Amino acid sequence: MCNHRNAGIIGIGSAVPDKVLTNADLEKIVDTNDEWIRNMTGISERRMAAEGESTSDYAAKAARVAIERAGLEPKDIDLIIVATVTGDMPFPSTACIVQNILGCKDTPAYDLSAGCSGWVYALSNANAFVRSGIYNHVLVIGADLLSRVTNWTDRSTCCLFGDGAGAAVVGPVDEEQGLLAFELGSDGAGANALRIPAGGSRKPCTPEVLLAHEDKIFMEGREVFKFAVKIQGMAIEKVLAKCGMTTGDISLVIPHQANIRIIESAVQRLGLSMDKFFVNLHKYGNTSAASIPLALDEAMQAGRVKKDDTIVVVGFGAGLTWAAGVMKWAY
Ligand code: COA
Repeated sequence: MCNHRNAGIIGIGSAVPDKVLTNADLEKIVDTNDEWIRNMTGISERRMAAEGESTSDYAAKAARVAIERAGLEPKDIDLIIVATVTGDMPFPSTACIVQNILGCKDTPAYDLSAGCSGWVYALSNANAFVRSGIYNHVLVIGADLLSRVTNWTDRSTCCLFGDGAGAAVVGPVDEEQGLLAFELGSDGAGANALRIPAGGSRKPCTPEVLLAHEDKIFMEGREVFKFAVKIQGMAIEKVLAKCGMTTGDISLVIPHQANIRIIESAVQRLGLSMDKFFVNLHKYGNTSAASIPLALDEAMQAGRVKKDDTIVVVGFGAGLTWAAGVMKWAY
């Protein structure tokens, strides 16, 4: 990696829908109960976008906050990356729609698909662009409306997911500050474990496909759980090693907010206390690419992230993919 200058997060924001869907509400939709959902996942409620809203609406809201907190204006943004698996449409990219909403004139923009690891993948892209001097300010958004692709007749998946967006502006920061190392990976052999089978080139939507809910999320829950437990701890260990750090150096981990039991497995493996892990999944469920920036923003607003803290972000998801990053918080 080029070493011209360091890059780091200089502004962060998030946005979630107002509508709350509680576990009690879900009991009216499928055969489930609050106790099962909380014991098995840690989730109590999630947010649902209203009819007519789309991923770009929340992406743009989160982005506006991040840009303002960075002390910038939309014209200062040199590149927009939107990590999502629920873009407004198959094409154009949601990033282009966000570019237009924000009024970032002529700014290049693209979507990035890496499931729930997407935002950390996008953050690593931004790091490379800013470090190398190609761009000064990159807007990195993670946004998903998973409620739009949830099978509301499948009790084993519909309790897990929610809607939201998080955004960060990545820019130049002082030496030894900001983004220090990344550990990214994928294993396409696990592609079938978490997928939307239809609606792409392999299986276009037909009335039969829609009847079988094949345009919605299919998940091998146990397989994904085992993968997540293994990869989350491994990715954290590898990314720390890349910058000569140990778990003792960590101020706070912002893990992907999928399941409290998956987070607890990392707590055990790494020998850290639970208060080193920021958790907000009880309020939002799994918001896919939005999950980590949404949690990072909440942690920041709650005073859990301060200048010079060593923050680890870690995600895993469809692909299968995984991604971890270490940063020295720069402001
Ligand atoms: N309410 C009540 N019971 C439910 C239920 C629900 N919402 N969902 C499933 N069950 C039942 C099942 O029908 C099954 O009943 P049975 O034993 O009578 O057949 C039982 O609970 C166990 O189901 P199973 O799916 O095998 O449970 P599990 O131990 O694998 O836990 C998950 C299910 C979804 C909580 C777990 O697999 C998981 O968290 N996986 C990872 C998911 C994830 O994080 N995905 C995103 C990654 S980015």
